[in-house]
Amino acid sequence: MSILTELKRRFEDALRSWAAEARDLLEMIRPSQEERFGDYQANLAMPLGKRLGRPPREIAAELAARLDVSDMAEPPEIAGPGFINFRLRTDWLAEQLTRAAADPRLGVPLVSSPRTYVIDYSAPNVAKPMHVGHIRSTVIGDALCRMLRFMGCRVISDNHIGDWGVQFGMILYGYKHFLDPEAYRRQPVQELARLYRLVRLLMDYQEAKAKLAEGRLQARIAELQSHFPQPLSAGSGQSNPAQSSKTSLSGKEAPVARAMKKELAELIEEQAELEKKTAQVEQSAELARLAAEHPNLESRVLAETAKLHAGDPENRRLWQEFLPHCLAELDRIYQRLGVQFDWTLGESFYHDRLAGLVEELLARGLARISDGAVCIFLDGFDTPMIIRKQDGAFLYATTDLATLQYRMETWRPDAILYVVDHRQSLHFQQLFAVARLLGYRDVELQHISFGTVLGEDGRPFKTREGDLVGLESLLDEAVTRALKIVSENDDAKPDGPELSSEQRAEIAERVGIGAVKYADLSQNRTSDYVFSYPKMLALSGNTSAYMQYAYARVRSIFRKGGVEPESLRNSGAPILLTTPPERDLGLALLRFGETLELALQDYRPNLLTAYLYDLANRYSAFFEQCPVLKAQPDSLRTSRLLLCDLTARTIQKGLELLGIEVVERM
Ligand code: ARG
Repeated sequence: MSILTELKRRFEDALRSWAAEARDLLEMIRPSQEERFGDYQANLAMPLGKRLGRPPREIAAELAARLDVSDMAEPPEIAGPGFINFRLRTDWLAEQLTRAAADPRLGVPLVSSPRTYVIDYSAPNVAKPMHVGHIRSTVIGDALCRMLRFMGCRVISDNHIGDWGVQFGMILYGYKHFLDPEAYRRQPVQELARLYRLVRLLMDYQEAKAKLAEGRLQARIAELQSHFPQPLSAGSGQSNPAQSSKTSLSGKEAPVARAMKKELAELIEEQAELEKKTAQVEQSAELARLAAEHPNLESRVLAETAKLHAGDPENRRLWQEFLPHCLAELDRIYQRLGVQFDWTLGESFYHDRLAGLVEELLARGLARISDGAVCIFLDGFDTPMIIRKQDGAFLYATTDLATLQYRMETWRPDAILYVVDHRQSLHFQQLFAVARLLGYRDVELQHISFGTVLGEDGRPFKTREGDLVGLESLLDEAVTRALKIVSENDDAKPDGPELSSEQRAEIAERVGIGAVKYADLSQNRTSDYVFSYPKMLALSGNTSAYMQYAYARVRSIFRKGGVEPESLRNSGAPILLTTPPERDLGLALLRFGETLELALQDYRPNLLTAYLYDLANRYSAFFEQCPVLKAQPDSLRTSRLLLCDLTARTIQKGLELLGIEVVERM
């Protein structure tokens, strides 16, 4: 039972004679933000009044009179300009809860018309180690899959890995020139990763060197510098307002000066980066020698990539040899994260379709040749989408078009979700525009965009060497810290520690990984967030550790009371809501289903984390004010135990839908 859906259904009946298309009006029925407005609030009398040219209060009163909700709510109240406020009947709530408690789905209904979703997430470029940037797509995508499946939708998860790009050109080049055969035999993945890093380092070096030699950057810096009496230093840009305000005359600088200062700070920073990159190589005689012996590395690497794409037998054979190692490495991390995919159809899978697709688009007149490249010009975009370069190479966009076509033909989805960071938003806007041109009109295409993970300094989360933090080391660190917390918590128990060291380790793995996932999912996905171990592992506040702890505490009541929750659930005993904290908790428990619906409307898992946090807080208030094991008479004790059990199951299910495991003890 979803209260919200039920209310909407009743309104739909009442609205029938006034509005044929009531969906947008029904969206205006919402849980109330404040207690004094009741449990739910309908704000639709205002727009409806406008539409009908009648006073909203009058409309509200008429609607309230027509509405048949007497079984579930007290008579609705009209407030302000025409709000309709509902307070649910406590006996009705208790009845719904009794049903939910006996239901394996916790009272959450399946969607009435299940859709088919393809979800494209994680999608790392393989052959380079996964880093912190991959956490968001992986974790958000996985949560959406789980939530949609739970609601009864058909979900096809597809990991569109980058297994065909320049990084393979880099490894191919590295393999041919820098391989340590013994290391490759022993630990192929590590050796391939080393080769990737080495070639990357040398390429970055040459690029930095060239840029510095050009001198344009330095010239622009000098020019900007001449406008300001006090020299600026790296890091005095926008990201550090405290420092930059010191050099400004007042808070109200002219916008031009501010823009110049910002540019200057960014350029200084860029220069420092470039210098760091060149120093890194030049400080090592060995690296400097390699850089000198392999000039123009980038074009050599591109040549290896092109050979791979053109079917060169040696490069194909090596690619075939490398790929399984890369995939095994990925799988190891996915296993640890508890993430699975139905399909892993990477970029290479589509290679043979690209030439035909480009020809088809040319033949249909959707694409045309411009400056030797094949382009799709789109209304409303400054730049065309290029699908074949002058030199005949295909692009990321070409592959994505082929992928879209394949998915439409193979799975006939109602929706395709691309969980990819916000920097690719233009790409997806263009991709979706082309999809419409291709005739895919009815499918919902969504870029589930997300922000950047920042370090404590407010910049992208990097290691001291300047690389993005590796995903694996990040998980290890979280688990190590979790172990410390779990151990300290256990040692401090009044009756002495309860957990063996194996138990502690297992709990730490769940708590540590859960913390990383939850910290990510609890953010509004479009914002950046700061990665902080202490915050994400805190035992209080909106963290997974707090939720896991709440769960374990509820479960301990059953152990303490020697009560078997299973038999309790099947007993058919009623839930009674005798006090306000019981009612508050009960209402929250019944809102699980509508929370999932709302979270899926915008694909925002953070609505689910916020719900769980609220639920845990209501549970705390209930537990403080209402004795459970000591409650009398027996029917009240049973009812309260049922509330505890339903709370634990809701937390467990909610975390499960976020890809997080609970622990029985902590
Ligand atoms: N491999 C890409 C990257 O790391 C992400 C792919 C996302 N999916 C897609 N269909 N484009 O940037």
